[in-house]
Amino acid sequence: MSFPLHRPRRLRRTEKLRSLVRENRLHTAGFVYPMFVCPGTKVHEEIATMPGIYHQSVDQIVEECREVGSLGISGVVLFGLPETKDPRGASSLAKDGVVQRAVEAIKKAKLDLLVITDVCLCEYTDHGHCGVVENGQILNDETLEILSEQALSHARAGADIVAPSDMMDGRVGAIRAKLDAHKFENVPIMAYSAKYCSGFYGPFREAAHSAPLVGDRRSYQMDPANGNESLREVAMDIEEGADIVMVKPALAYLDVIRLVRDNFDMPVAAYNVSGEYSMVKAAAAKNWIDEKKIVLEILTAIQRAGAEIVLTYHAKDAARWLKS
Ligand code: PBG
Repeated sequence: MSFPLHRPRRLRRTEKLRSLVRENRLHTAGFVYPMFVCPGTKVHEEIATMPGIYHQSVDQIVEECREVGSLGISGVVLFGLPETKDPRGASSLAKDGVVQRAVEAIKKAKLDLLVITDVCLCEYTDHGHCGVVENGQILNDETLEILSEQALSHARAGADIVAPSDMMDGRVGAIRAKLDAHKFENVPIMAYSAKYCSGFYGPFREAAHSAPLVGDRRSYQMDPANGNESLREVAMDIEEGADIVMVKPALAYLDVIRLVRDNFDMPVAAYNVSGEYSMVKAAAAKNWIDEKKIVLEILTAIQRAGAEIVLTYHAKDAARWLKS
């Protein structure tokens, strides 16, 4: 393969040639757009740490979903900011909870869009942890029943997919059993399987009001130093019935996405998280980077690493750029 017989630049000469040999084409159908639902009506408040992303009441959420669907984005993932919080996250199970009402309203609008719900306790607990806390410990098995009930209430509201993000052991199996027992055997589970304990969630915790009051999430989320361990987490989730497996965050974990892609014949999702978004937005606001170029490059890299599904706050912008 040596010069001058081979000249890689031959195929880079024109856009037609480059396009002919392009290995990956970023596609809008792989995007999922995260949204934050809050109580009230006509609420549309920008989240300070995430320019362009809003806290919205159900009516506003439906309107934005209309736009999201028309852009060709496949789905939205909903996070709730409930009216009340307590130690066990009771408001996450309410039939008239924010997420449940949002799901119903979006489904009623008959949009061409998958409605995915985040299943977790941290947005609904007063202590901000993803599970039940006792004597400073986050209890695993006691949390499973609440998570399963929450997933069931989302399914009853009409969720197309439920997505547990809590990282308790055994939650995928518990949720699958609960859904099946109530005849929701056709509702898929998108599991946050390799979810790392990451500083990149900072802006989200502002957005979801979900930062833990005491301690951190290191006893349940994965250690960023571990790559191979993701194989075990993903294998367990698949065994327990996960339909889609997720790696999160995305950018600092492209190696993990590739590892999972190469080792399992399953749909792989990656979450391009809040901190990754906010860094780009902040630098773009200062004109330090070309936002469009960087966003498309980032999303292409995540797909190239092996994720066919990308959850990203850039979804609407990227969809517009890909159209034009
Ligand atoms: C809740 C949850 C988090 C995110 C998604 N679901 C935060 C966390 O674990 O602290 C992060 C999303 C983002 O940063 O964009 N368990």
